[in-house]
Amino acid sequence: MNYGYFDDAKKEYVVTTPYTPIKWCNYVGTLDFGGIVDSTGGALLCKGDPALNRITKYIAQMPASDFKGSTIYVRVKEDGEYKLFSPMFVPVLKELDRFENRVGLSYSTYVGEAYGVECEITYFVPTDDKIFLQDIKVTNKSGKDLEIDVIPVIEYTHFDAIKQLTNADWVPQTMTTEAQDVDGQPVIVQYAFMKRDNTLNYYTATGEISSYDTDRRVFLGNNEYGSFANPLSLKEAELSNSLCLRGDNVTALMLKCGVMADGATERRVAMLGQEGNAAEVEAMVKKYRDTAVVDAAFKQLGDFWEDYLTTMTIDTPDPSINSMLNVHNPRQCHTTKNWSRYLSLYQLGYGARGIGFRDSSQDILGAISHMPEEGRAFASRLLSVQKDNGSAMHQFFPQTMEANEGDSREEHDRADYYGDDNLWIIFTVTQYVKETGNLDYLNEVIPYYNSKESGSVWDHLVRSINFTFTNRGDHGLPLLGFADWNDTVNLPIGAESMMVAAMFGKACNDMMDLCDAKGDAEYKATIQGYYDEMKEVFNTVGWDGEWYLRYFDHEGNKIGSKENKYGAMYTNAQSWAVISGFAQGERRDTALNSLNKNLNTEFGIKLSTPGYNGYDDDLGGVSTYPPGAKENGGIFLHSNPWVMIAETINGNGDRAFQYYDQINPAAKNDIIDIFESEPYCYPQNILGDEHKQFGMGRNAWLSGTSSWTYVAGTQFIIGVQPAYDGLVINPCIPTKWDNFKATRKFRGALYNIEVLNPNNVS
Ligand code: NOJ
Repeated sequence: MNYGYFDDAKKEYVVTTPYTPIKWCNYVGTLDFGGIVDSTGGALLCKGDPALNRITKYIAQMPASDFKGSTIYVRVKEDGEYKLFSPMFVPVLKELDRFENRVGLSYSTYVGEAYGVECEITYFVPTDDKIFLQDIKVTNKSGKDLEIDVIPVIEYTHFDAIKQLTNADWVPQTMTTEAQDVDGQPVIVQYAFMKRDNTLNYYTATGEISSYDTDRRVFLGNNEYGSFANPLSLKEAELSNSLCLRGDNVTALMLKCGVMADGATERRVAMLGQEGNAAEVEAMVKKYRDTAVVDAAFKQLGDFWEDYLTTMTIDTPDPSINSMLNVHNPRQCHTTKNWSRYLSLYQLGYGARGIGFRDSSQDILGAISHMPEEGRAFASRLLSVQKDNGSAMHQFFPQTMEANEGDSREEHDRADYYGDDNLWIIFTVTQYVKETGNLDYLNEVIPYYNSKESGSVWDHLVRSINFTFTNRGDHGLPLLGFADWNDTVNLPIGAESMMVAAMFGKACNDMMDLCDAKGDAEYKATIQGYYDEMKEVFNTVGWDGEWYLRYFDHEGNKIGSKENKYGAMYTNAQSWAVISGFAQGERRDTALNSLNKNLNTEFGIKLSTPGYNGYDDDLGGVSTYPPGAKENGGIFLHSNPWVMIAETINGNGDRAFQYYDQINPAAKNDIIDIFESEPYCYPQNILGDEHKQFGMGRNAWLSGTSSWTYVAGTQFIIGVQPAYDGLVINPCIPTKWDNFKATRKFRGALYNIEVLNPNNVS
């Protein structure tokens, strides 16, 4: 079964039924102001920080049929009776004659039709203002006159998203609503008492608002034995202008369209924002009451995306890679760069996760060619949470810039740093300089998080290298810390990581290239020595006969070895061995062939095999999952593009493309009942073949899969690579491609590239 289709001309995915297997969603705005909108109209919005300044109440774990944060009701009066429907289906759940959710580039459009009335609503946030717009167009298609009302509704949360869930006395006592008059129409203002003087949420609409309700009990009616599916207040002609002085704050606006003739359309725009004071609220409302301003803002959003997506385009013989690399993948990279792992339907934005040092360093890679200066600014923020010993804080909270070390490790004998975090930023910074040629960035001075000391960006990178090189274990490999990229293998202090060793190898290579660019032969020689030493250790202690090991535990036992009953082989140890250049010649072939034989499946490459079968305190997180799930033998997609890259380094374009294609979500539209996840973005994980639900995807949107698959696709398969002195064209394509074209904007020039493949080589 299909739940929708790709409309490539409009760069949209069109969901054609509300009955998607799980909630599917889209993003509007940015972390500065914006959030998630789901395919039945729910909206989770925040400004600046989803944990500390959340605006609407959307509890992701509630059933799909529940009201979540926002909806629009349409009411038709016939024979003295009101007939109610939700054009987005939820929460009334009345079957619609037509349903469409167009998942666009930072906007979502919903079309719902019932009782002869069509309602089209577009949700978006303008690029220049912090306001959520719901552009509503109602059309009478019934063939007769109809009296029609539109009632947009939102529900607020306390700004402190965790307190909202955990303190049911303080929260309701502190939340208040008022009606502000702007040119004769109500603007409903909502705030938490302690924020009254600097943080006002507001909701209003264009045109006349004949009545409103803000007390949830009154809107739902009968002390909340009325429901969002059937609010008792909507049985009356008008709402009762309730002001919620404490308790659960909603805002429902009665927008009367009057008696509409057949074919007539009425347009209203509802708007939700947050400003510091009444005057600012008034100014913003006045601005967006002008629908010409709304139209211009929507056009500007389209222009932004046009410019963004034309940074690089491809035209290959394969439509699914074209669609992903031209639209959906760069779009997802923009989303991950914005939200890191902070807010999705899976990462709930409650403060346990913030902006991840490791995650965002990688996310920037997927957006750096499109917005290099934003990428640079973000890299500087990340560097500001690096410690003076070169290691990094694991995550920070954007509103306060407070950072922490990640998961709690109190009950265990675990380290207070991650072995890999500090190395990722080297890839980010070097990629930025290659994109822009801006070597001056290396001189920018940025403080260290834990001391009064500051250092240049270059100094930060050098400390990063030194941290890994000087923190090594008994075999001479880097210490694991609490974990490396694989968050869930949490071995006690003393464990060593082959992946960090290989990441270190790539970091050294990147630093040596940078030394060439800045003319620092002396440091280059130093770092070449580090590289050679690590490569020697890696190949001496880390080769297991047919593949590379993944870890040594705190007692020196091998993990990722044929000697292990579970976790006998890990993907990242092979891919990164190639990416670093540590694996050469026959070993390189053997490692990649073993990976293909033991870890590849029709739905993607598994992270490891076989999965651990039961909790093991020494291993930690990985053993909390059943075999085949997530990091425990699941298809953890983030690791797949590294194998694609490794295959291109090994010259095997057919295999690289096979790996690309088998995880392409667009290609899963026809097997969506197995995959279940959104077909227009990569999920984080797909259940592996040891699991009964093999092929099921989860955790859509916020995954490093996005940036790395974009890098693998554009830089290694298509092969357009920014370098310090220009653009390198070095493709490694499937042999069946006779040719392809690409365009790339680079340092102010537009390159038109055509590659011919008359001899059908990779
Ligand atoms: C998701 C985390 O956000 C990421 O940092 C980590 O590398 C992967 N899980 C793998 O454990």
